[in-house]
Amino acid sequence: MGYALRVDAHLQRRIAVEGLTFDVGRGAAAPRRIIDDVSFSVVAGGVFTVLGPSGSGKSTLLRCLNRLVEPSAGRVLLDGHDASELPVQELRRRVGMVFQTAALFDGNVLDNVLYGPRLREGRAGDGMARGAAGDADSACAQAEGLLRRVGLPAAFCDKPVTELSGGEAQRVSLARALANEPEVLMLDEPTAALDPTASQVIEDLLLQLAADTDLTFVFVTHNLAQARRIGDHGLLLVDGRVVDQGPLPAFLDDPAEDITRQFVEGRLQSGDAAQ
Ligand SMILES: Nc1ncnc2c1ncn2[C@@H]1O[C@H](COP(=O)(O)OP(=O)(O)OP(=O)(O)O)[C@@H](O)[C@H]1O
Ligand SMILES: [Mg+2]
Repeated sequence: MGYALRVDAHLQRRIAVEGLTFDVGRGAAAPRRIIDDVSFSVVAGGVFTVLGPSGSGKSTLLRCLNRLVEPSAGRVLLDGHDASELPVQELRRRVGMVFQTAALFDGNVLDNVLYGPRLREGRAGDGMARGAAGDADSACAQAEGLLRRVGLPAAFCDKPVTELSGGEAQRVSLARALANEPEVLMLDEPTAALDPTASQVIEDLLLQLAADTDLTFVFVTHNLAQARRIGDHGLLLVDGRVVDQGPLPAFLDDPAEDITRQFVEGRLQSGDAAQ
């Protein structure tokens, strides 16, 4: 019985997307369907990879998942519950996001990393200097723990974000996302702006997080080798539609669909699905 319960927990769908659609220009002369009836689900602890040519709707799909854009139809289920019924702040805490380029605000690393927890405590504007000494100590300890998880030394707490390299800034944005203790972490091409070494550091961190935690990832990448290394399942999005999906790396190594083979061989562009 205990074993059966564990199996059920393992197979639990952390996030599920059903018939998700996003239209722009509704009511205008030329409305456009950017996301078209997309469905998929990710088990708890899974690493789900979204692939597709530029302009196919990958970023928009992620933005629909935590309501940075409001879907026109369909639904997102988080642990089986309709995400549209959650307060948007709670949804965004539980479904975190890391972008291609670290979106840090001016200030030091500690303030950026602790932004989410402070927002929830109603103290987002507090810098270290204004907090009581005990608060500052515990904030430091919390931030240092998060920095350690992304391989940065404690001394980085006081560093102005303007002094960070691209790779360091991306690690700080990962720490900031982790500070919210999300259940799902969405990553939109998190290494695309980094050199190969910095990119490898982020990739290793993601693999480590996937191995050590039950965090669930929805990961957009252009890099097929990276998708093979990191993802356990993937889908191919073309012109807003899911044209293929399956387990990685077989999904890319031995494509079931012609369109996936074209994509793997670099012969697919946005607009091709319509032909
Ligand atoms: N709010 C919007 N209004 C109009 N068009 C939009 C809107 N949001 C996205 N689009 C269009 O939808 C298409 C998909 O954009 P999206 O950024 O999701 O693609 P992508 O797959 O992430 O591309 P890339 O790989 O280049 O990042 C693009 O043609 C974009 O211009
Ligand atoms: Mg994009």
